[in-house]
Amino acid sequence: DEKVLKSGLSSRCFYFDDIPSTNAFLLGHVNELTSGDLCVAEYQSAGRGRRGRTWVSPYGGHLYASLYWQFSQGMAQAMGLSLVVACSLVTVLRNMGVAGVGVKWPNDIYLNHKKLAGVLIEMSGQADSVCDVVIGIGVNMSMSEQQSQKIDQPWSDLSELTQMPDKTMLMIKLQQQLVKDLEQFEVDGLKAFKQLWRDVDLFDGQPIKLLMGDNIVEGTCCGIDDQGAVLLQNELGIQAYIGGEISLRAQ
Ligand code: ATP
Ligand code: BTN
Repeated sequence: DEKVLKSGLSSRCFYFDDIPSTNAFLLGHVNELTSGDLCVAEYQSAGRGRRGRTWVSPYGGHLYASLYWQFSQGMAQAMGLSLVVACSLVTVLRNMGVAGVGVKWPNDIYLNHKKLAGVLIEMSGQADSVCDVVIGIGVNMSMSEQQSQKIDQPWSDLSELTQMPDKTMLMIKLQQQLVKDLEQFEVDGLKAFKQLWRDVDLFDGQPIKLLMGDNIVEGTCCGIDDQGAVLLQNELGIQAYIGGEISLRAQ
């Protein structure tokens, strides 16, 4: 695909053995970057997750990567981006023959019902003009018990598969898929990904609860809207919920 090739050829990869966080690195250099540029590391001493949480990032061949993208129409244009990126990662893994992967709204990738990978979107810029976006992705390749000691929820890694994908191949295909999906997202918005989301969503049609501080709502998970809100059906009808403080759980 010529479009993908063009973007791929113009992008750079900043490679580190040891760095605090690939997301933090790109966020610190936004003025020197071009959409599609990557930062990749072997180890992160301060890998980050959502809401100030930690992404456990030991040495051992795991994938820690961030991609820079500029949106011309401000932060609103990037609403729901973590869902697109989660879809991109699942698409690449499935194309590489990985079965049993799916997503949990809004940013988690699961393999065999345990967390395999995460997506962290961070932004800087104006609400209504140019907005710099850093898309961070962490994927567990083959975790030893010792490496995983600090992970405080059920986790998985790609070594659970009979045939483990090659990390370099995964990284290359992921960058190509991301560029393609981001270009489509810029033109068509999230509605272009709504059907794919339902196909990869582990909770679609399932009874779920949403935790929002002290508040809990229950219902059946029935997809997303054009803003990336999760749709919940219950006795009140279909309601949309959005926001960084919401966590989705099985009922
Ligand atoms: P949510 O709040 O949406 O339910 P979550 O509990 O997975 O999601 P996130 O902020 O998305 O929270 O991800 C950070 C969490 O991921 C950490 O608190 C930890 O439980 C888990 N985690 C950290 N490192 C890893 C890793 N290498 N592999 C799997 N899980 C990890
Ligand atoms: C999450 O599930 O909360 C998101 C985890 C995102 C981890 C990746 S690893 C590469 C990039 N750099 C970081 O510090 N975090 C992201």
